[in-house]
Amino acid sequence: MSSLLRIALQKSGRLSEDSYQLFKECGIRFDYGTGKLKSISSNFPAEFLFLRDDDIPGYVEDGVADLGIVGENVAVEMGRNVKTIHKLGFSKCRLSIAILRGTEWTGVQSLEGKNIATSYPNLLGNYLAGEGVKAHIHEISGSVEIAPSIGLAEAVCDIVSSGSTLLSNGLKEVETIFRSEAILITHTELDADKQALADKLLFRIKSVQAAKNNKYIVLNAPNHALERITSLLPGMKSPTVTPLATEGWSSVHSVLNENEFWENIEAIRAAGAEGILVIPIEKMIY
Ligand code: PRP
Ligand code: ZN
Repeated sequence: MSSLLRIALQKSGRLSEDSYQLFKECGIRFDYGTGKLKSISSNFPAEFLFLRDDDIPGYVEDGVADLGIVGENVAVEMGRNVKTIHKLGFSKCRLSIAILRGTEWTGVQSLEGKNIATSYPNLLGNYLAGEGVKAHIHEISGSVEIAPSIGLAEAVCDIVSSGSTLLSNGLKEVETIFRSEAILITHTELDADKQALADKLLFRIKSVQAAKNNKYIVLNAPNHALERITSLLPGMKSPTVTPLATEGWSSVHSVLNENEFWENIEAIRAAGAEGILVIPIEKMIY
């Protein structure tokens, strides 16, 4: 029997939807939802396990799953022996300290001798040690934000993304101690077959990400400006330049990185380009 790559995903929560979306964009189909706990892909040799995110690093360390998607916050907190192979760029959030609004805050020393409720005792403990602050870490596994209002702790250390949970619990964020996004982790020793499948998956993920980070650009340029314009649009190898029906003009096609987009587009216009079209790319294979 040929092997299936076992991939652990968060069942429901911050990472789930974007994880499912990523596999969809990689052309890997599988069923999920309606209480399903595992599912075999119909078109890629993979089996998906739907788990609590906190359990994923442990399953990957043990080799029950070959690969998993988790938040860096969870991976680092758990400190399991797994390999991080790629950052996925979604589910960005931060681990922050928050206190009741209206409470005085003069810096991290304000925590000296206080109780802090958190589900991240290791990350918080390291941070406090680094700051030379002694506080009592009260570990709870969920609904951390309620702790100050019920008198369990003076502060919390928890995940913030939109900030709405803090807001609705009367808390204010005072210090960010860790920044996180979704990452792909693997078991440390995959056999050759599984490694090959993992490589295949990673190749697809990178192609999808590259496409998202780049735009296809088409424009008309007067021939005298071609040198200048093509130098601003190196593309994947080099831009495509074809003559227009109008004498003295050419059409230029290329690919432009999202991060350099606005800056370059201004320079390109200034150089004489006209009729600039910018088109999303679905996949980008290097
Ligand atoms: C975190 C945290 C808050 C919420 C904050 O939980 O515990 O409840 O997210 O997000 P917001 O700033 O957008 O309101 P998480 O989704 O990590 O759930 P889990 O700890 O149960 O896995
Ligand atoms: Zn969790």
